[in-house]
Formats: sequence, structure tokens, C-alpha cells
Amino acid sequence: MDKKLAMSLALGVVLGMLDLSSTPRRALAASPCAHAKFATKLVAEACKSGGQDEAKEKMKAWVKGAKEKDPKLVLTCNSCHSSLAPTFELKPDGLKQFFALGGA
Ligand code: HEC
Repeated sequence: MDKKLAMSLALGVVLGMLDLSSTPRRALAASPCAHAKFATKLVAEACKSGGQDEAKEKMKAWVKGAKEKDPKLVLTCNSCHSSLAPTFELKPDGLKQFFALGGA
């Protein structure tokens, strides 16, 4: 790695640490959701309160719950999303699937 790059990386780390100590943890931890408009309460609320991390946790829990309700159900993140992090684009029927499985 060349020196300049190493320096700027090191500087980035230091600045990141400074930022950590001066910003409330919550605001830092929360990288915002990729979308600005939401059709579901689950994701809209999660994005609002804890950003994309929270949305991810909520979705994971929701998928788990849906599978517990129907053990035969084959459901992965890719069932509804055409891409995962960082954009989590939906397949054309992603929303429909979500509502059909009782999501809100
Ligand atoms: C049954 C369909 C379905 C499954 C399965 C699913 N999702 Fe989602 N997901 C959605 C829908 C629909 C939205 C958008 C909700 C909205 O518009 O309010 C979404 C939104 C998200 C978002 C917010 C995206 C943003 O704007 O940043 C994340 C993160 C996410 N899902 C993660 C996951 C993860 C991780 C999994 C697997 C554990 C998963 N999803 C499985 C339907 C699904």
C-alpha cells in the first residue's frame, strides 16, 4: 500500500474515533435506509428509529416469525429482494409477498 493511502486511511480512523466520542451513539450507529418512502409500517418505523440496521433486524425477525407460522415456507431475503446491502432493492412482487404473508 502506498504511503499516502496509508496516511489517509489512518487519518480516517482517527477522525472516525473523534466522531464516535462526540456524537450520540444512536445517530452514528444508524446509517439511513436506502429508500425514502415506505409502504409498510414495519420498515418505515424501523428506518425512522434506527436506520437500516434496525430495518434489517426487524426484517430478520419478521422472516423468522413467518417461517415459524408456516414451517414449510421457503423464504429468504432474496425471495423478495433482488439485491441486498446496501440498497435492498425489491423484486417486483416483493411488497405483494410481504403483505400476502401477513406483513404490515
Ligand atoms: C416477504 C418479502 C420479504 C422478505 C422475505 C424480506 N424482505 Fe426486506 N423488505 C421487504 C419489503 C416489501 C420492503 C420495503 C418495505 C416498505 O416499502 O415499507 C423491505 C425492506 C427492507 C429493508 C429496508 C431497505 C432500505 O430502504 O434501506 C431492509 C434493510 C430489508 N428489507 C432487509 C431484509 C433482510 C435482511 C431480509 C432477510 C432476513 C429481508 N429483508 C427479507 C420484503 C421482504
